[in-house]
Amino acid sequence: MPVTLQITRALPADAQVIAEMSRRLVEFGLPWTWTPARVARHLQHPQSLVLAVRTNGTSNPMLVAFAIMHFGDDIAHLNLLGVDSRWQRRGLGRRLVAWLEKSALTAGTFSLCLEVRARNPVALLFYRELGFTETGRVPRYYSGREDALRLMKDLRHPLARSWPELETGAWSAGVDPDPAGGPSAAEWLASHFKKQEPQR
Ligand SMILES: CC(C)(COP(=O)(O)OP(=O)(O)OC[C@H]1O[C@@H](n2cnc3c(N)ncnc32)[C@H](O)[C@@H]1OP(=O)(O)O)[C@@H](O)C(=O)NCCC(=O)NCCS
Repeated sequence: MPVTLQITRALPADAQVIAEMSRRLVEFGLPWTWTPARVARHLQHPQSLVLAVRTNGTSNPMLVAFAIMHFGDDIAHLNLLGVDSRWQRRGLGRRLVAWLEKSALTAGTFSLCLEVRARNPVALLFYRELGFTETGRVPRYYSGREDALRLMKDLRHPLARSWPELETGAWSAGVDPDPAGGPSAAEWLASHFKKQEPQR
């Protein structure tokens, strides 16, 4: 059966799965701070965007990747990103970050920042490949135990926008294309994140 993948906003019911994936993929060896309750708070927060990638076209649809970003006034903070190990290296992470970048620009936010475990070479390679640059080291950032590297990306630079095609939220997992497609990314983002014009 053809498998397609779809990016959507995560649902309240996804909090548990996202928190468990975070513990397994991101927080392994550290205290579990991204608990279901914390993820649920972001799911409800008007300035947070929680995205999920799901498989379609299988008898058992699964959430295979997620991202959590929080919008500040000038900077958006990418809190968490994880791709199930069986689904890594297929472009899911790249697409999630592209959605987040497009969301930030739509919201009028031009910088993305994040922290990554200093001992996470794969994540560092990934973010460098996507145009992030290192801006510093934060000692003992993770539960007082492990350093973080802080990374930034300026979305105003035209070369920063090496996005894959995002006109639909659905794409093929390398089997068959999904002719039905998904919701328009542009429409979805505009309705959720476009800043109000100031009143005159
Ligand atoms: C980091 C992570 C999110 C990347 O997601 P992904 O879907 O596997 O990444 P993509 O397939 O979109 O890769 C995009 C590019 O990043 C680089 N990259 C990704 N994984 C890599 C790896 N294991 N080794 C070297 N480069 C890698 C490559 O340049 C890749 O492009 P290419 O496949 O065309 O060569 C994923 O490995 C993951 O979830 N890791 C565990 C959790 C984590 O570390 N999260 C980030 C910190 S919160």
